[in-house]
Amino acid sequence: MSKKFAKNILCIGAGYVGGPTMAMIAAKCPQYKVTVVDINREKIKAWETDKLPIYEPGLLDVVKIARGRNLFFSTEIEAGIRESDIIFVSVNTPTKTFGEGAGKSADLQYWEKTARDILKTAESDKIIVEKSTLPVRTASAMERILNSNDKGITFDVVSNPEFLAEGTAVIDLEYPDRVLIGSRETERGRRARQEIVDIFANWVPSDKIITSNIWSSELSKLVSNAFLAQRVSSINSISALCEKTEADVQEVARAVGFDTRIGGKFLQASVGFGGSCFKKDILNLVYISESFGLNEVAEYWENVVRINEYQEKRFVKKIIQTLFNTIANKRIALFGFAFKANTGDTRESPAIYITKQLLEEHAHVVITDPKALDNARIDLTGAEGTLEYEDDPYKAAKDAHAVAVLTEWDLYRTLDYNRIFESMEKPAFIFDGRNILNHKKLYDIGFNVYPIGKPELTRI
Ligand code: UDX
Ligand code: ADP
Repeated sequence: MSKKFAKNILCIGAGYVGGPTMAMIAAKCPQYKVTVVDINREKIKAWETDKLPIYEPGLLDVVKIARGRNLFFSTEIEAGIRESDIIFVSVNTPTKTFGEGAGKSADLQYWEKTARDILKTAESDKIIVEKSTLPVRTASAMERILNSNDKGITFDVVSNPEFLAEGTAVIDLEYPDRVLIGSRETERGRRARQEIVDIFANWVPSDKIITSNIWSSELSKLVSNAFLAQRVSSINSISALCEKTEADVQEVARAVGFDTRIGGKFLQASVGFGGSCFKKDILNLVYISESFGLNEVAEYWENVVRINEYQEKRFVKKIIQTLFNTIANKRIALFGFAFKANTGDTRESPAIYITKQLLEEHAHVVITDPKALDNARIDLTGAEGTLEYEDDPYKAAKDAHAVAVLTEWDLYRTLDYNRIFESMEKPAFIFDGRNILNHKKLYDIGFNVYPIGKPELTRI
């Protein structure tokens, strides 16, 4: 047991949440020993190198502050559990793909396995922190499993949902809008909660650390993501209307967002939202609501996901219709595969659905992305058709009938579109699924331009 540290913190799960969060805690709190464990050996090895297993701007610098000093990566889960005072659990909780609740409720097998590992190995009292997004009331289930031991050990389960967004994780962790910590409202519960508050108080101003009961904390995470996703679906639904009315969705979003009660963020119309959280969390909310018989509530939130699917479908349909109702054997270059810029993550990326649909239509699809090609290959394993991966966007666009921008990487704003136009089949089409390009300029070069929710600029 390392005695020289004030606290031993363990994190189970070294993914997008566990890795960055623990790196920040370790960097800000040299007095604590922070160990991150995972069953995935490769991932742990990568955390020990300068080629981290996830792409996140600024993260390596934070890791380097603490790695080897008070931040350690390991696959020794049992040793980690024994040594720890506080255990953050950030294993994955995907949507269940089988049985009761399939397609909606969370698959808790990894979480439960972790709880059982802790139960089996622990030799002293511990605080368990739910970091993974979990359905409401999971904490109490976990507390029951954990406290079913006959070793005389007590576990306090605290909820501390993660609000970081990928691509801005480092800033979000260093300067969070808020840190939420929920616990039971008992003396023990409040004491455990205070221990977690004390960790974040090392760098987060006290007015940004909010506490609540454990159910509110769990639910707040789902609701925050549902509200954010709802804004995207709201503006995306309006983008469809704009395309019919010659209104411009960016002008509408700007005008609406200037109202301080509404605010201007998260009103960027797009090809659809992706990411590991939005859909999963909304479906979770839908599932919980249904299970309490709140069908109207469930339907209300389910529509946020439906509009997202509609937006993805609409985009594919637009490509097919515009390319004279057939894309068979036509080369189509997809600029971007990640679900948003500044990440290599492709979970739930609209690009997955769009690629598969284009392949169904027998298009020849070429995917380019500065960080996500490895994940794209995994996502599209088994997809049938003519599919290429290309690092260089110029090569991807060469001889293509159409380019479709699916991720808002800055790189795509500054490409030489004259050169791209010259190398493409004519008429050349560009579908800007993120509204990041200079549409007028593209039109002047000779492209037929199809933005989202804005008038088309077309010569045919
Ligand atoms: C989200 C939440 O923001 C974060 O607080 C939570 O912890 C995890 O889920 P993340 O999934 O990393 O974070 O990305 P986010 O920036 O929220 O974007 C989600 C999706 O919505 C992306 O596909 C993005 O491109 C899309 N989006 C976002 C839009 O289409 N338009 C917008 O205006 C904003
Ligand atoms: P998130 O985005 O929620 O962080 P990730 O999939 O990126 O999700 O990370 C979750 C991590 O949890 C993965 O690296 C996975 O290997 C790890 N994991 C899953 N189950 C266990 C377990 N029982 N013990 C340790 N690590 C686990």
